[in-house]
Amino acid sequence: MALAATCLFSSCYCKTHTTAAAALVGNDGTAVAINRRSWRCRSMATAASIAPAVGRRRSAEKKDAVVEEEEWRSYLAPERLEVLRQLEPWVEEHVLPLLKPVEASWQPSDLLPDPAALGSDGFHAACLELRAGAAGVPDNLLVCLVANMVTEEALPTYPSGLNRLEGVRDTTGADATAWARWIRGWAAEENRHGDVLNRYMHLSGRFDMREVERTVQRLIRDGMVVHAPASPYHGFIYVAFQERATAIAHGNTARLVGASGAGDATLARICGTVAADEKRHEAAYTRIMGKLFEADPDAAVRAMAYLMRRRIDMPTALINDGRHSGGTDFYARFVAIAHQAGTYTVSDYCGILEHLIRQWGVEELAEGLSGEGSRARDYLCALPHKIQRMEEKAHDRAVKAQKKPTPIPINWIFDRIVSVVLP
Ligand SMILES: [Fe+2]
Ligand SMILES: [Fe+2]
Repeated sequence: MALAATCLFSSCYCKTHTTAAAALVGNDGTAVAINRRSWRCRSMATAASIAPAVGRRRSAEKKDAVVEEEEWRSYLAPERLEVLRQLEPWVEEHVLPLLKPVEASWQPSDLLPDPAALGSDGFHAACLELRAGAAGVPDNLLVCLVANMVTEEALPTYPSGLNRLEGVRDTTGADATAWARWIRGWAAEENRHGDVLNRYMHLSGRFDMREVERTVQRLIRDGMVVHAPASPYHGFIYVAFQERATAIAHGNTARLVGASGAGDATLARICGTVAADEKRHEAAYTRIMGKLFEADPDAAVRAMAYLMRRRIDMPTALINDGRHSGGTDFYARFVAIAHQAGTYTVSDYCGILEHLIRQWGVEELAEGLSGEGSRARDYLCALPHKIQRMEEKAHDRAVKAQKKPTPIPINWIFDRIVSVVLP
């Protein structure tokens, strides 16, 4: 599944989720504003004077959390899950065919020097050729490639996520339902993505593989944060978004490293092949969600708005190079690198949203919508423009401030420096 990258903004698209603890004390230990936009609390305020406000805020946050949980738990009602059960024959007919049989599938050996096919001398020569092609790829693209690979290698996390979804999960590990066969078949296809990228990286000689491997282990250990973890509506919207994001990221990488870019034809072919798989996966999840939009448009549009208000946080959000606590600081740096390298940008994020709005006919939804459903539709339809405006403003601010690039040593590439303008 998926690459990094979401929202390159520091705030999400609804209300501020600043925690009370973070609000009280800044990095330098002084009291800071709770929420700059609220104007309730200024930087000179003492901790004592803001304590009642923090208390009120905490209780409001708790209340919000309860309402949010009630909202997504309503998606586990028996009548909603029944919709999923009734969809199973349709999944058999329209979703499972999007998986390729093993016999027709590419394997990493098809895209890389294969000693079984080339013999010892031929293998050695092909490896030298691969290394020569990789020599021209610039460091910022190497870093993006590592993040793509680490995300793919964190695969154990993703089927666990799908198997948390009520009504579709593979309860025994070998269920015969169409849903369960899809989850296993999809994971089996995904497994080749990390393999092929990992092997290319190893052969190219351009990466500190031990550091990369440690990053993979950390990410699988730390997992990923998912909103509404058991709701199939929220889960499928998330994965549809993700698969398209991944296809775009691998596709952009293929273009940038290929013949008209850095000149690495082998890597371009690998990334392009992976991107084509992601497109098939995207088609599957988009179709599934399309059916849910037909069956229960109110539930579907509210779930989509729920997720977009919290941003689509990608699986790599907890990526950690071992030097930054919690991963988030490093993730923010990586997101800026990907944006400036052009492998995944704010425009891509926005384009995915616009595409899904079109695919699921969100703008045209009217019949059967509750008040909340109508508000969700209106929010979603206005969101792409809002994101673009935020991005333009952020860009203007950066230009005005004449921000200088920050040099970042990256251990995946032997601590060479990648310079990037941070937001
Ligand atoms: Fe995928
Ligand atoms: Fe993938």
